[in-house]
Amino acid sequence: MLIENVKKIVVIGAGTMGTGIAQMSAMAGFQTILYDIQDEAFPRARKQIEANLDGAIRRNKISPEDKNRAIALVEMTDRFENLMGDVIIEAIVEKLTVKQDLFSRLELINAPEAIFASNTSSIPITRIATELKNPQRVVGMHFFNPAHIMKLVEIISGAATSQQVAETTRQLAVKMGKKAVSAKDSPGFIVNRVARHFYVESLRSLEEGVADVATIDALIKSSGFRMGPFTLMDLIGIDTNYAVTCSMYDSFHQDAKFRPSRIQQKLVDAGHHGRKSGKGFYDYSKES
Ligand code: NAI
Repeated sequence: MLIENVKKIVVIGAGTMGTGIAQMSAMAGFQTILYDIQDEAFPRARKQIEANLDGAIRRNKISPEDKNRAIALVEMTDRFENLMGDVIIEAIVEKLTVKQDLFSRLELINAPEAIFASNTSSIPITRIATELKNPQRVVGMHFFNPAHIMKLVEIISGAATSQQVAETTRQLAVKMGKKAVSAKDSPGFIVNRVARHFYVESLRSLEEGVADVATIDALIKSSGFRMGPFTLMDLIGIDTNYAVTCSMYDSFHQDAKFRPSRIQQKLVDAGHHGRKSGKGFYDYSKES
C-alpha cells in the first residue's frame, strides 16, 4: 500500500489513545472510522474531540472550518463489518491475545494489502503478527499521550513487516503532523523501556514510605520534568500503565527491575484508573 492510496483509516478502540489518533487522522484529511465495543465510549470520544479542536481554535492553530471538516470525517461505529480500510490502527487493551484475535478477525474482512498498525506500548510486533496469514502487513505505530499533541511516533517493524508497510506508516505519521522515529522490535521499544523506571521506581519509593504521592510528584516536577510520575500515571490510565508494566515484566523474564507494584494493582482492582475514571492517585471527581 502506497501512501497515495491511503484514503480510509480505521481506528479501533475509542479510549484515551484511539480518540486522539482518530482526531489526527481526520485533521490530516482521511475518512476515519472509530470503533469500540463499549457504547459509552462514543459520546466520551465525541466530547473529547470537540474539546480538543475548540482548544486548537482558541490557540489560533486551526479555524472553525477546519474543526467542522475534521468532525465530518469521523464516523463512529459499533459494527465490526464496517471495519474495512486502507490502514487499521488498533488502540485497544494492552493484551497480546486480545490484539491477536482482533487482527485475525480483521484479516477476514480486509484486502490483503491493508496495513494493520498497532499502538501497543510494549508488546513486540513480531508476536502480535504470528497468528496472521499475512504478517508482513503488521507494523507498530506507537503514539504518545495526548496523541493530538505529542509529536513523537515510534514506527516498529516486526520480523515479517515489509519495508513498504513500514515506509507507508512512517509517511502516514508525517501526514498527521508527527515526527516518526524507527524503533527496534523489543519489549517497550525505546521510550517505554527507558521510561518504565520512572513509574516503577516511584511506586517502589511510595511502597517503602520514602515520601507520599504529592511530595514525589512535586519534587520530580521541580527538578525539571513536565509532571510528576503519579500525575502522569493518572493521565495515561493506571490500568493501561499497569498492563504495560506487567507485559514488560513478562517479556523480560520476570526481571525484578520491571516488577509491577501491588499499590497500582489495588487501584486497578478498585476501578480507580486515573483521570478517565475520575479517581486514581488523585481525585478528579469535581472536574467536569
Ligand atoms: P483505554 O482503556 O483508554 O481505551 C481502550 C478502548 O478500547 C476502550 O474504550 C475499550 O472499550 C476498547 N476496547 C477494548 N477491547 C476492545 C476490542 N476487542 N475491540 C474494540 N475495542 C476494544 O486504553 P488506552 O490508554 O487508549 O490504550 C490503548 C492502547 O494504546 C494500549 O495498547 C496501550 O498500551 C497503548 N498506549 C497507551 C498510551 C497511554 O498513555 N494511555 C500511550 C501510548 C500507547
